[in-house]
Amino acid sequence: MAIEIRQATGLDLPEIMKLEIASFANDAWPEETFHSELDAPHTYYILALEGEELVGYAGLSKLAGSDQADIQTIAVREDKRGLGIGRKLMDALTLEAKNRDAKEIFLEVRADNSVAQKLYKVFGFKQIGTRKKYYQPDGVDAFIMKTDLIGKEKAELVVLGIETSCDETGVGIVRGNQLLANIISSSMDKHAIFGGVVPEIAARAHLEALTPVLNEALEKANLTLDEIDAIAVTNGPGLAGALMVGVGAAKALSVATGKPIYAVNHLVGHVGADILDRGELHTPTIALLVSGGHTSLLLVRDLLNDVVLLGETIDDAAGEAFDKVSRVLGLSYPGGPEIDRVAKDANPAAIRFPRGLTLPKDMEKHRYDFSFSGLKTAVARHVELAESKGEEISIGDVAASFREAVVDVLIKKAISACKDFDVPRLLLGGGVVANSRLREVAKAQCEANGIELRIPPFSLCTDNGAMIAAIGAQLIMAGRAPSSLNFSAESTLPVTIVQS
Ligand code: KG4
Ligand code: ZN
Repeated sequence: MAIEIRQATGLDLPEIMKLEIASFANDAWPEETFHSELDAPHTYYILALEGEELVGYAGLSKLAGSDQADIQTIAVREDKRGLGIGRKLMDALTLEAKNRDAKEIFLEVRADNSVAQKLYKVFGFKQIGTRKKYYQPDGVDAFIMKTDLIGKEKAELVVLGIETSCDETGVGIVRGNQLLANIISSSMDKHAIFGGVVPEIAARAHLEALTPVLNEALEKANLTLDEIDAIAVTNGPGLAGALMVGVGAAKALSVATGKPIYAVNHLVGHVGADILDRGELHTPTIALLVSGGHTSLLLVRDLLNDVVLLGETIDDAAGEAFDKVSRVLGLSYPGGPEIDRVAKDANPAAIRFPRGLTLPKDMEKHRYDFSFSGLKTAVARHVELAESKGEEISIGDVAASFREAVVDVLIKKAISACKDFDVPRLLLGGGVVANSRLREVAKAQCEANGIELRIPPFSLCTDNGAMIAAIGAQLIMAGRAPSSLNFSAESTLPVTIVQS
């Protein structure tokens, strides 16, 4: 069964004491000492659980302002030794020591406990001294051991990110804010004959693609799995079956390697993509995320602590509208690039298509929401009507007029949000960002309104694992504890939950 590492609380004390007494007999700490240590701000106690059962625990102490951390205790239940649980506990303590800016870790170990000494050596500990007859009543010496954490700052931790929320299988690797690899395999071709993403096909394609994509990413980054410090994975929002593949794979990797895991929100990932482009995210920013799966307008005051959903589509996503209209016009899938292609040099003012949710009465209730299904129907009607009258339609003009309507609403609402919240920045993300007219209008409107426009490279705009790794790295740098292994795939995860 999988071993889960989580932080201990006072409620765990009775179980901890049972294991403490079993492990250390007459050397065991009294319950009161343990209780005050658990609650102290300078300590970090963690548990290893197998299901509900406590099979190990460990504690670290690090005084504020000091460069030193001390491993205070580590215990694994006798029948569970030799299974890598001690390693997992040590991994978690080491990561926490780094998070608390420790430069070195100290510990004491019984001179006659060669198994523990071996474990510590794996973690780079070296014996630096002896305390004679330290352990009473049997008078056994204590070895003092130390390891240096210098050389790997938090900003240098390597995070592997896994993304499977829709039809892209993405594995990315980052070191801090730096992109090392971003490999994507899309199952788009497999959905083409259906004109849209088929969830079951996407999930199956993730299963097939994940291992090769993972291997390719490691190869690109020139790293082995052992050299990864943490794993991040999208756990929502997205297609349930698709998400489950990535979540399952990430958990398995975490359990097999003993690396900590971070469950990350996909939408926040899109915002974090900008970090990999310019090394940091400037906040506050309004983010407009437009893809085949989402159309969301976010107010981001702080990437990890303050992301608000201002509005989203109440029916079709922007990319979905492109795909559906493309079909109506007899063009292929995915529709966005096709519409862009035929709209080039055509007349965007040829037909005045409706702009969803922009009438004064809609703006009261749905100021930042979008609706594209009325527009799609209007395009279909226009084509049908022309056909029934036997008139020739200009596909280019219909496409250009449709595209203009979508872009108009998207950018108007995004600019309004910037103005309403006094935010001088607009960040774009999602596959629809490839749209040439969207880019043009965004650029012109932002310039006209004194707003800085950010568009990350396209490979970071579409769904990818690197942006998920980037959020994982931000969480680590902010000192967040890893996610516990019981998180699940959440198809409707709200954007306010950055980490599950
Ligand atoms: O982010 P993405 O690759 O992933 C999914 O949401 O699956 O976005 C794909 C969507 C598709 O709906 C596609 O039609 C749209 O992005 N798209 C475009 C363009 N290129 C791709 N939409 C408008 N114009 C484009 N040039
Ligand atoms: Zn996405």
